[in-house]
Amino acid sequence: MTAEGFIRDTIQVLLSGRSYEVTVGSGILGELAGVVSRLAPAISRAVVITQAAIPVEIDPGVPRKVLLVPEGESAKSVSVAESLCREMATIGITRSDLVVALGGGVVTDLAGYVAATYYRGIRYINVPTTLLAQVDASIGGKTGVNLPEGKNLIGAFHQPSAVLCDTAVLSSLSEREWASGRGEMAKYAFIPSSAGERMGTDFLDLSLEKQVSACARLKAGIVSEDELEMPGGRRVFLNYGHTLAHALEAVGFDARSAVDLRHGEAVAIGLVFAAELAGRLGRIDDGRIDQHRRIVKGLGLPTGIPDGVHADDLVAFMRRDKKVSDGMVFVLDGASGLERVQGIDEYLVRDVLVTEGARP
Ligand SMILES: NC(=O)c1ccc[n+]([C@@H]2O[C@H](COP(=O)([O-])OP(=O)(O)OC[C@H]3O[C@@H](n4cnc5c(N)ncnc54)[C@H](O)[C@@H]3O)[C@@H](O)[C@H]2O)c1
Ligand SMILES: [Zn+2]
Repeated sequence: MTAEGFIRDTIQVLLSGRSYEVTVGSGILGELAGVVSRLAPAISRAVVITQAAIPVEIDPGVPRKVLLVPEGESAKSVSVAESLCREMATIGITRSDLVVALGGGVVTDLAGYVAATYYRGIRYINVPTTLLAQVDASIGGKTGVNLPEGKNLIGAFHQPSAVLCDTAVLSSLSEREWASGRGEMAKYAFIPSSAGERMGTDFLDLSLEKQVSACARLKAGIVSEDELEMPGGRRVFLNYGHTLAHALEAVGFDARSAVDLRHGEAVAIGLVFAAELAGRLGRIDDGRIDQHRRIVKGLGLPTGIPDGVHADDLVAFMRRDKKVSDGMVFVLDGASGLERVQGIDEYLVRDVLVTEGARP
């Protein structure tokens, strides 16, 4: 028990026929075998998809086979997904078996995608081991892999059967991965709950377990309302800051690129850019823009576009991003909170990138 008396929290993702629990707490990993044993129909075997560098042991309580995948965004690829499916076919994994994703967002996105497509969909459990995956990537059933043309361009909605967020496993994360997780958390300060309230930044002063559970609860509520990110739904708000973030990440896919950003770092830059763009459109005032900058800086994250990145390349990727369907579309802040704003002039976007993107 922590000083604040926190033991564990269970959060429901409510989806008819496919509801599941997200459990948050320190030292809850031991509950995995029990969670697996309660799944119906019963699970025969488990394939644990993870990375060699992840120092976390788990016991799913059924015979298991561990499959290792490479580090980094490049592991989120069709070819790595194919290798995994072929290994699973070789050892005879069927629909009565389970995939356990043990890792950060790269592993949960990739393993989730494999679970979504192997045998037209088998069950999986997420055991996220990064802050970023615990507060976001492991919850909500968006699974996928990248193409050289952009992030997450191939994927499926496939909900996990359970998510176990054990905050004790985060102790081995590097400072950079902590910061990246905080970058993803920063967006929650601006996203309204179902009741229409923003969390603001107060949650950042809570214990780690409470921070994770506050974010997981907000995300679970949004997914329960709008699982498939339908027009007019609220799930699109979770993409706040992400249009530019995904473009920055895509620029970094090129081995010759000088861009080396973690997902949460890219989101941090994307949040500040979204505020600058909203300001330029007269949607928010300078105070509100500064608030975005202060929050991102206060979390130890970058606010400006890295040197050597061309605005034209970013605009080209943003045009292709899945959030873009009709002209340029961004989730932007405004007098009544976040909104999906379409038809934004590409030249304005470019101009804001050039003039504001370089500001520290
Ligand atoms: N599906 C979604 O809804 C969603 C949401 C947000 C982000 N994402 C995706 O998540 C990915 C980023 O995830 P990430 O930031 O977790 O990166 P990541 O999965 O690459 O993990 C970061 C690094 O930490 C290491 N690591 C993981 N757990 C560790 C531990 N406990 N101790 C020490 N090292 C550990 C990993 O090996 C890796 O090197 C991106 O691809 C992003 O697109 C998906
Ligand atoms: Zn994200």
